[in-house]
Amino acid sequence: MSKTAQIPKGQRAQPIDHQKAHEIQAFGQLIRRPIGLSEKVARKSVENLNQVLADTMTLRDLYKKHHWQVAGATFHQLHLLFDKHYEEQNALVDLLAERIQALGGVSLAMAPDVAEVTLVPRPPKGREEVPVQVSRLLHAHEIVLRECHAMAKQADEDGDDGSNDLLVSNVIRGNEQQVWFLSEHVVDVPLVRAD
Ligand SMILES: [Fe+2]
Repeated sequence: MSKTAQIPKGQRAQPIDHQKAHEIQAFGQLIRRPIGLSEKVARKSVENLNQVLADTMTLRDLYKKHHWQVAGATFHQLHLLFDKHYEEQNALVDLLAERIQALGGVSLAMAPDVAEVTLVPRPPKGREEVPVQVSRLLHAHEIVLRECHAMAKQADEDGDDGSNDLLVSNVIRGNEQQVWFLSEHVVDVPLVRAD
């Protein structure tokens, strides 16, 4: 008997909530897709991409925290810049997670799981000065960039061109651009009167 057949006539509009079942794919398990990559290569890429994903999600959330909590004379410009970078990091999060799924893996998704994996240090809950906010972001960017250089090289050597392209064209180049914009904010040049 099909499940729909169990619903009495005249009650088909009743939403069936509180449903539970086993997972269809456990985290860490790989399903095979016909994408011309060996399971070993796909597995390694999934593992690497989940690390970049966790760090990118943390960096993204650090931008939103600083977007909300920024203080001082540069409030407005940094409030806007932090949110712009947040949106760009959020786009990278989606690209990374969907690449992991495309490879047959399971992408990390929820904050507590991300917190267990990320290499980006946890900031305090309270507000900090702008130079400290910028320093935290720059450190997080460098963590992402260092791992991406190594992972892009590995993906290239393994023949995983798609992951290599994503890491190089999107993640590395995007992060490098953001580091430029950010790092100019901690250059100690006079605001009004020349030295
Ligand atoms: Fe906002």
